[in-house]
Amino acid sequence: PMRKLIIGANWKSNGTIQSIRSLVQTVLNPAIIDYKNTEVVIAPMYIHLPIVKDILKSDFHLGAQNCSLTGPGAYTGEVAAEHLKDLGIPWVILGHSERRHIYGESDAVIAEKVKRAGALGLKTIICVGENLDERVAGTTTEVVSRQLDAIKYSLSDWNNVVIAYEPVWAIGTGKTATPEQAQEVHGSIRLWIGSNIGRLVANSTRVIYGGSVTDENCKELLVLDDIDGFLVGGASLKPAFKTILEICD
Ligand code: G3H
Repeated sequence: PMRKLIIGANWKSNGTIQSIRSLVQTVLNPAIIDYKNTEVVIAPMYIHLPIVKDILKSDFHLGAQNCSLTGPGAYTGEVAAEHLKDLGIPWVILGHSERRHIYGESDAVIAEKVKRAGALGLKTIICVGENLDERVAGTTTEVVSRQLDAIKYSLSDWNNVVIAYEPVWAIGTGKTATPEQAQEVHGSIRLWIGSNIGRLVANSTRVIYGGSVTDENCKELLVLDDIDGFLVGGASLKPAFKTILEICD
């Protein structure tokens, strides 16, 4: 089956009200994309979500970069999946390597967040990926499978799931996975879905690549069988993102 391409922009903890307004007005809204073929999800910081929502063309979709392990209540500083839903934010990124490594989110924590978000009908971009030591040790497939095993029982509706393969050593480093490296892991992710969830789900689930994606390297990655789009960090804050969107269309 044809999988619709999906491009995510993870703005991380970046931007000012002025800079994000200008990014929307000069880079995103003017991009010429056939939205029938390509889905684009923009993920600003929580506090910027309503601002971006107001000015972003409705062809784009909005996502948060995280959500809380808990529901609404006495959880100082947290934003729950319910709050995203209330604000009309359809997507959430979960398990990003910065959440795993800087904020110590375990596979179990991510599994619970995936479960909560999924139960509320939010669409999730679930990130997996090995670090440099794990790649050098040859354990990439094992690590990614372990991360996927953790979410296996968290999800009832795989229609709402995108898996992002983000090798940690490629994030923000300028070192992109080679097409061979990326295809190998994407293929193994699809195999995992096939044997753990089902063959039809494996065929229809989008598996996207993240890690130093640029307007220069996105083309050679996009032609690969098992790459259905990208999760873009640094380059999504630049005018080059318009080029990426137009190349991917
Ligand atoms: O979520 C996005 C990834 O962490 C990639 O970030 O494109 O800056 O390497 P990057």
